[in-house]
Amino acid sequence: MKILVLHGPNLNMLGKREPDVYGVVTIEEINQMIRGHAEDIDADVEIEQFNSEGEIVSAIQGTHADAIVMNPGAYTHYSIAIRDAVAAVKLPTVEVHLSNIHAREEFRHKSVIAPVCAGQISGFGAVSYLLGMDAAKSIVEQAR
Ligand code: DQA
Repeated sequence: MKILVLHGPNLNMLGKREPDVYGVVTIEEINQMIRGHAEDIDADVEIEQFNSEGEIVSAIQGTHADAIVMNPGAYTHYSIAIRDAVAAVKLPTVEVHLSNIHAREEFRHKSVIAPVCAGQISGFGAVSYLLGMDAAKSIVEQAR
């Protein structure tokens, strides 16, 4: 099975960006963890990072993966376009966040994307992505 991992805007800045919130782990380090975990769970993985909404929408529309693990960054809270793309492709999608969005500012509590996802994992740092991959794998296997 193949998993598409999508990082949204500003996640390329990890390591330098608000380390008190997101820690000092870089996106390259997270991607290494993701690749290692893909091997452990016997999945293929493709990883992309986009700062713009349209590129994320196009990546969702164009993927041949079996499932998507996505950290939509700030788009989580207002991108109806990304929500509609997830709904359109009907691929099992797991929304992940490094920080616990429910424990932060009120505007981060709402995700417009989570309702069309299989579920949301929030607050476990880089491990959120790995838990998201496990969830994606189990959903795909259950559907087979
Ligand atoms: C985030 C949480 C979002 O609210 C924020 O805009 C991000 C990162 C997270 O992973 O914790 O860019 O998605």
